[in-house]
Amino acid sequence: GSEMCIRDSTLDGKTCTPNYLTIASTYNKEKNERYLMANKSLATAPADQTILVTGGAGFIGSHTCVELLEQGYNVVVVDDLSNSSEEAIRRIGEITGKPEKLTFYQVDILDREVLDKVFAAHDIDAIIHFAGFKAVGESTQKPLEYYWNNVTGSLVLFDVARNHDVKNIIFSSSATVYGDPEMIPITEDCPKHEATNPYGETKSMLERILTDLHRADPEWNVVLLRYFNPIGAHESGRIGEDPKGIPNNLLPYVAQVATGKLECIQVFGDDYPTPDGTGVRDYIHVVDLARGHVKALDFMGGKVGTGKAIGLGSIEGPVAEDGTRSGVAIFNLGTGTGSSVLEVIKSFEQACGKELQYRIIERRPGDIAENYAACDKAATELGWVAEYDLARMCADAWNWQSQNPNGYNA
Ligand code: NAD
Ligand code: UD1
Repeated sequence: GSEMCIRDSTLDGKTCTPNYLTIASTYNKEKNERYLMANKSLATAPADQTILVTGGAGFIGSHTCVELLEQGYNVVVVDDLSNSSEEAIRRIGEITGKPEKLTFYQVDILDREVLDKVFAAHDIDAIIHFAGFKAVGESTQKPLEYYWNNVTGSLVLFDVARNHDVKNIIFSSSATVYGDPEMIPITEDCPKHEATNPYGETKSMLERILTDLHRADPEWNVVLLRYFNPIGAHESGRIGEDPKGIPNNLLPYVAQVATGKLECIQVFGDDYPTPDGTGVRDYIHVVDLARGHVKALDFMGGKVGTGKAIGLGSIEGPVAEDGTRSGVAIFNLGTGTGSSVLEVIKSFEQACGKELQYRIIERRPGDIAENYAACDKAATELGWVAEYDLARMCADAWNWQSQNPNGYNA
């Protein structure tokens, strides 16, 4: 496509393809001097900080933008809208009443030239990196697209960020990195297991890449957040999950059965070694999850927690004079409670006031029996615990789904 053709870059006087990583910049003497400059401070007040949110029009990103704006941050969103709608951005402004503190660019993070312009136009202090493809099944069909978008896209982002001395980053990882977990509940001490699909592998690889970045340049201040199963929606019912096509995940599927868009829930197996035989997961309200990101910024700025390396893979790095930390900090974000598929269906029935059709079918390949988090580290280091229970998650999901049966496409 046209994005790949060679064009003049007015930014550094070189001609390059936007998708080509200019690794040479790290060996450039002049750039090296900039590269050695201090990272951006996160010790300042939210109103004095600008957070770049990649994928900010998406499900988790949009809810995180709301929480950031409510805490007073300035927010810049880059999203190519490959799996989202600009309407979400408009509604973030509407919910918070602060559209003037929110800037949106329809940008593909693979486009390094344009990304560079975004960093040049805004004094970005930290990045929350949500942008990526996330469908497990699709990733097995389209591995190249997944590695290209998730891994190459992230490499471009990290390189451009570094060139602008932005080394504060929160990355959306997943409990999928634990594979079939060695312990339940899963603490951050649980070893990672090899991913069973390309999507999961991109998460694992990006965790490693960010860790290597910190090892090479200790100024990098990295937080890896391993999400469990985010569901629910903002209480206003104005933003929520808007999957394209038939949903792969349980909650959006259940919600579409409730609206009558789909007929019958398929329960993938009832012969697991769990109390009712169906799969158990740690569902977490997306607003709780979003707030975890705000707390992570506080942590990175040295405002909460000890910064000690706790759990496998975490690294405590040097602390700047103003308290801004560095290192690699890994946190599970879940509720610590597991719910079965049948419990979720029951809870959703309560929320929507209807009986929902379901039938038990065979197990879905690659699924595990049980998965829930130990969230003690997030509690002590971030001062964060999930507040909302499954009933509230289902009530908010239904509020969104019933008000917006076709998502953002009115
Ligand atoms: P989402 O698809 O709703 O949001 C991702 C956003 O990134 C979308 O708005 C999409 O348009 C955008 N995007 C994708 N590729 C892009 C690119 N190259 N350039 C710019 N924008 C791009 O997904 P989500 O559920 O909000 O997930 C956000 C992040 O959290 C993802 O990285 C996902 O893998 C991760 N995660 C999600 C879950 C979950 O259950 N939803 C669980 C664990 C981790
Ligand atoms: C899935 C992904 C995981 C990702 C997570 C969050 C897979 C194999 N794993 O996790 O990598 O991090 O989403 O995005 O896709 N279920 C049904 N019927 C359905 C759908 C699901 O019974 O129609 C069951 C599943 O078997 C599971 C539970 O519901 O027990 C939750 O499934 P899902 O919402 O897809 O999430 P995970 O599989 O936990």
